[in-house]
Amino acid sequence: MSTAPMPQFPTGFRWGVSTSAHQIEGATAVDGRGPSIWDTFARSPGRIGDGSTGEVACDHYHRHTEDVALLAGLGVSAYRFSIAWPRVQPTGTGPANPAGLDFYDRLVDELLAAGVDPVATLYHWDLPQPLEDADGWLHRETAARFAEYADLAAARLGDRVRLWITLNEPFVHMSMGYGMGVHAPGRMMLFDAFPVAHHQLLGHGLAVAALRARTASPVAIANNYSPVRVLGDRDADRAAGAAYEALHNRLFTDPLLGRGYPELPGLDPRVIHPGDLDTIAAPIDVLGVNYYNPTGVRAAEEGSPLPFDLVPLDGYPRTAFDWPVAPDGLHELLGWLHDTYGDALPPIEITESGCAYDDAPDADGQVADPERIAYLDRHLRAVRAAIDDGVDVRGYFVWSLLDNWEWAEGFTKRFGLVHVDYATQRRTPKSSYTWLRDVIAASRPGSAR
Ligand code: FCB
Repeated sequence: MSTAPMPQFPTGFRWGVSTSAHQIEGATAVDGRGPSIWDTFARSPGRIGDGSTGEVACDHYHRHTEDVALLAGLGVSAYRFSIAWPRVQPTGTGPANPAGLDFYDRLVDELLAAGVDPVATLYHWDLPQPLEDADGWLHRETAARFAEYADLAAARLGDRVRLWITLNEPFVHMSMGYGMGVHAPGRMMLFDAFPVAHHQLLGHGLAVAALRARTASPVAIANNYSPVRVLGDRDADRAAGAAYEALHNRLFTDPLLGRGYPELPGLDPRVIHPGDLDTIAAPIDVLGVNYYNPTGVRAAEEGSPLPFDLVPLDGYPRTAFDWPVAPDGLHELLGWLHDTYGDALPPIEITESGCAYDDAPDADGQVADPERIAYLDRHLRAVRAAIDDGVDVRGYFVWSLLDNWEWAEGFTKRFGLVHVDYATQRRTPKSSYTWLRDVIAASRPGSAR
């Protein structure tokens, strides 16, 4: 870790942390919430590494006041949470469930009272199960349902949410959920999952219109990006790299920024109706960038169903998820977005960045996580370097405030600045929490440094 002081960030730079509803809330059968695809998926044997479910998670639904106090103590200017669609519309259609909206209403008010800007994501993968029973995001109608839900959420919260994010990581939802079957809803369709891409993007575009009609707050999407490292120097390796680039980094960005779809196998034009690309390209105010690691790619073996092979990258330290720690990848990615999209690129906020380590309290109950501090330090410096290069980056949200229910990994991966003992729900700020608090405080205009 560098011993040089953290460089200053531009005035007004947004410091935040992110969470998502299903990973922290618990209370899955409370106040009229309907089932989501993650409830169903987690109950099917063998789907979740440790056999757990999100039924209790961090019990944030009942402990939100304590969690807002943790945010206030950290000094963040913003908190990115997600709204559970099945709380607002238990079956995915029809009128709002007022009790579900009440929860977010209280949360938003508590955040504002604590001086923290509410940043709300509408969809962090928790589709109401009845919509999945009607074919989920494979079905065009789901896009229209999503816009209706966006309208209901904005009607209640639009006067107070400071930034709206439509979808979280539509690439990951498509590929892990519908392509490879390792996330809910657990379908394994490989490239036949393409309609899921188009319908999510269409839902995004329709939701942008719904939000604009209800609120003057800025609107964004949060995409996952991974810089591609081509391993091998055959033409076939480079072609494989380009195919993966198109799939992971461009499929959900080219159409959003008015370029239509990149060339990709399996992209069936029949799902794209006249006018869809214009709906999808509705201007957004911010591009949310979620970054974890680069991806090594080379030509696929003969007979592979995919046009590339993904290969582990050597030469990097690794997190408990076995993901390479590569802050240079974040710097490179921000430059790539800037160079590739030019004037069409809106201002960027890093909406997720973080790491899992096996953090545990010591004999005194303290949780030291020096690896996370080093990780955040290096990634923040990478963001600062990109700003110096001329990339307009306006915020950085750490994933995550709390250790939480990490999807198919269950409770085994701890990403929090705050340790959670799942048996007692006791929260213990880790040393990275204190470190980040000091970085944020030192970045305030007028701070003595
Ligand atoms: C991202 C997800 C988030 C969390 C982190 C580790 O892909 O958006 O919910 O799982 O990874």
